[in-house]
Amino acid sequence: MTAKNTVLVTAATGNLGPLAAAELLAAGATVRALVLPDDPHADRLPRGVEIFRGDLGDPDSLDAALEGVDGVFFMWPFFTLNVDTAPEVVRRIGAVARRVVLVSSVGVHIGLEPVDNNCHAYLEQLLEGTTLDWTFLRTTGFHCNAMGFAPQIRTGDVVRHPYGAATRTSVHEADLAAVGAAALTQDGHAKKKYLVSGPEELSQADQVRIIGEVIGRSLRWEDIEHDAARQAMVDTGWPPSYADGALDYFAMLTKQPEVGSNVVEELTGRPARSFRSWATERAESFR
Ligand SMILES: NC(=O)c1ccc[n+]([C@@H]2O[C@H](COP(=O)([O-])OP(=O)(O)OC[C@H]3O[C@@H](n4cnc5c(N)ncnc54)[C@H](OP(=O)(O)O)[C@@H]3O)[C@@H](O)[C@H]2O)c1
Repeated sequence: MTAKNTVLVTAATGNLGPLAAAELLAAGATVRALVLPDDPHADRLPRGVEIFRGDLGDPDSLDAALEGVDGVFFMWPFFTLNVDTAPEVVRRIGAVARRVVLVSSVGVHIGLEPVDNNCHAYLEQLLEGTTLDWTFLRTTGFHCNAMGFAPQIRTGDVVRHPYGAATRTSVHEADLAAVGAAALTQDGHAKKKYLVSGPEELSQADQVRIIGEVIGRSLRWEDIEHDAARQAMVDTGWPPSYADGALDYFAMLTKQPEVGSNVVEELTGRPARSFRSWATERAESFR
């Protein structure tokens, strides 16, 4: 890919999008961001990114953003949008672009996320049916998922959550962004399904302990039961099948740690960042 090539980032103002845009700009790409018409967070995107208003649920609204693009950093907002329009969106990407990087999930890698769950595996299947040079980033959870503990930590010393012993290999979202940018701007990544993870195995309770060490407080984990956790997740908008999938996965990770890889270092040339380094960057959010 040359410096003139143009990449569209979808679902662009969330946790990963602004970081992906920054990495792509640094790699010399012209970067566009697809931002919902009523999304007030376009200012999260770095300077130099071209904003295109559009909605993945309305494929016609993507025409301007897709015109002339070479690559797509493709993310689907599964929590707020079903996949009804995904076949048409993928068809339109395939009609103009050459490369696409899909942010997929470790759940697909280990066979826990079936195609008929209408989530990442379904998107992978759609892309495999195109002539695009696709790359799948089957990522573990992001370090920033730990922001979910922040409200409890700001107001007390106990974090109540399910499956504290679940051992994960979470990844710094900036490392994942860098992997995606490398796959879109360098050769050799077509038709690759990369497992992307952080550098270490840590239980959720360990993550909370580390946050406590970083902010100078002694924090304690307290498990809440599976059924209560499921209800709380559904109440906050999780589709029930996603809540079941996540909780069953956490239960499994109390018995065997999550898988991991060296893909961050292999594709970026830099070691993957630890959870402690992330917690240090975000310490103020927990105070
Ligand atoms: N977090 C994890 O641990 C994890 C693990 C595996 C895979 N992933 C995947 O990683 C990707 C990125 O995650 P994230 O945490 O960055 O996501 P996120 O923070 O939830 O951001 C979602 C983004 O999509 C936008 N959006 C919502 N509905 C849209 C629509 N109809 N059309 C266009 N944009 C829309 C949102 O805008 P508004 O804010 O205005 O709604 C927001 O900018 C997701 O595809 C997710 O499936 C995440």
